[in-house]
Amino acid sequence: MSIKVTPSGQACGASVTNIDLTQPLDAATITAVRTAWLEHHVLTFPDQVLSNDELERFSQYFGHFGDDPFIAPIKGRKHIIAVKRTAGETAPIFAETWHTDWSFQAKPPAGTCLYGITIPATGGDTLYANQHLALAEMPTALRDKIKDKVAIHSAQRGYSNDGLYGKSDQGGDRSMDIRPSDSALKTQQHPLIRQHRETGEAGIFGCFGYIMGIEGMADDKAAELLMELHQWQTQEQFQYRHQWQPNMLVMWDNRSVLHRATGGYEGHDRLLHRITVAD
Ligand SMILES: [Fe+2]
Repeated sequence: MSIKVTPSGQACGASVTNIDLTQPLDAATITAVRTAWLEHHVLTFPDQVLSNDELERFSQYFGHFGDDPFIAPIKGRKHIIAVKRTAGETAPIFAETWHTDWSFQAKPPAGTCLYGITIPATGGDTLYANQHLALAEMPTALRDKIKDKVAIHSAQRGYSNDGLYGKSDQGGDRSMDIRPSDSALKTQQHPLIRQHRETGEAGIFGCFGYIMGIEGMADDKAAELLMELHQWQTQEQFQYRHQWQPNMLVMWDNRSVLHRATGGYEGHDRLLHRITVAD
């Protein structure tokens, strides 16, 4: 029995069926999933009732566990974090700005697995933006401005003590176990246009947010260029809007897509388990 891959019809994303993730996968199936992942960037696996062990086993077919700073793992697990929100929570929605996970690391994760456990009936869609497509369709004038530029990434705006999830947020009612730290002030450089390690395809890597500046450019000029790039790279024509269901696993490629959370489920609990996969 081979897997069935159904493209979303949007700029990326495909649904994978004819597969049972409660069972170990054979080599041919793992290869088929990896091939589909590299082609579609975001894979969704509906109707998979998974234990944490099964979720970990699946993620490990695609790489080692990634290093997750600033968010404590769930009890009894080193590599699973809970993305959660309670019905009455008033803290800002987690990860509502465009980003690719942990792009401020020296070796950012290849992928992220996110498994829906408690999913409200409406709202909470995750948006993805295909950065291979955004680069391929980019006007020459903008491409000339970003080619050969090296971006300076940092977790500062999010996870430093003064960041969005810093000291002031810690006083609120956020249910996620976020641990801000001044280690978020560290910076890491990555080219704005980067070759995908596995496919060799060029894409835009990262965006304003974790990107703080551009090597050799004044801050105001860099911010102006990063905002122009942000407008281009997050357009709806490059997007896939993912709607969650309970027992649905999603695995995306951080090397080729940006993503962001959305709200719209006030009054409802929401819980997902996340594992990052190293590159
Ligand atoms: Fe994320």
